[in-house]
Amino acid sequence: MKTIGILTGGGDAPGLNAVIRAVVKTAYGVYGCEVIGIRQGFEGFLSSDGTTPLTVDSVRGILPRGGTILGAANRGNPFARKVVREGIEIIEDASEEVVKRIDEWGLDCLIVVGGDGTLRISLELFEKGCPVIGIPKTIDNDVGGTDVSFGYDTAVAIATEAIDRLHTTAESHHRVMVLELMGRQAGFIALEAGLAGGADAILIPEIPFSFESVFAKIRAREKSERHFSIIVVAEGAYPAGGDQIFQVKSNRLGGIGHLVAERIESETGIETRVTVLGHLQRGGSPTAYDRWLATRFGAAAVRLADQSAYGRMVVLRGTEIQDLTLMDALAEPKIINLDNDAVRTTRDLGISLGD
Ligand code: F6P
Repeated sequence: MKTIGILTGGGDAPGLNAVIRAVVKTAYGVYGCEVIGIRQGFEGFLSSDGTTPLTVDSVRGILPRGGTILGAANRGNPFARKVVREGIEIIEDASEEVVKRIDEWGLDCLIVVGGDGTLRISLELFEKGCPVIGIPKTIDNDVGGTDVSFGYDTAVAIATEAIDRLHTTAESHHRVMVLELMGRQAGFIALEAGLAGGADAILIPEIPFSFESVFAKIRAREKSERHFSIIVVAEGAYPAGGDQIFQVKSNRLGGIGHLVAERIESETGIETRVTVLGHLQRGGSPTAYDRWLATRFGAAAVRLADQSAYGRMVVLRGTEIQDLTLMDALAEPKIINLDNDAVRTTRDLGISLGD
């Protein structure tokens, strides 16, 4: 093994720089091989200045930094690339270019750090013969095969702090505070932060909710002299019989928090405010846990590269780092298993799940 390429694809997540650092330090320190960084996800393969050499010097000091020094692009699918030809936007398959570049640049292995979408692209490239190894990254925690992805712990910590802060102002003003959190089709961030922050209701995509049940929870609290409530809503949550809410322009999930707040205020008469935490959940320094996990993932991916174990992804199972095929990891998207202990604990504590 002489040269490893690494790219960070999809949206950013706290811990990406910790992975890059671990890959570089392990590759040079243990195996004496070079590392080439590919900029802006797979786009780096298709542009003239898409690479940067990564040395131990160039990764110095990046461990606690959020974002990614390589840049990320969540519209960079080489199998369906948007390009403008003669003034018209068309979709082109540029995957052969990527395959060619991997060969031309002499990459013995390409480490791809990404979420569900990026890892699916990696699997397709592997099926075309590319020496790919995956590392799961996402604040949503929705990549299959691994108990946790890095980025998730930081997002939960930020969301929990937001709930704590909303608590004090909600209590002072006797208000209902609705907090909309990210997570796409999975409610992991909302459930864990809601439980950690002591929310009164947690609405997740895995359990379509009833407005009546949320109103009933708030009214019960009023009756027992608790004149404020905290309602945590995952961006993918939706009312039973209704639909998820998408932003009109971007077609991205978002807006359910406002709908829930409007309905609460008009139905209960209690002053209600909404906070959409948004990208604050993705920015800034990773927690110690995410640095620890990202570092272990990075080093383990280089070990896999040394064994030419391509088409595989590093995962965390319990406390151990293991690996499995990208195909197995991506077989099913990960969502909350409603039989699990966290869901049961939420109910045991009297927190409404909206059902
Ligand atoms: O997958 C991570 C995530 O932050 C989701 O939770 C969210 O729905 C989406 O990305 C937002 O994407 P963008 O950064 O493109 O707005």
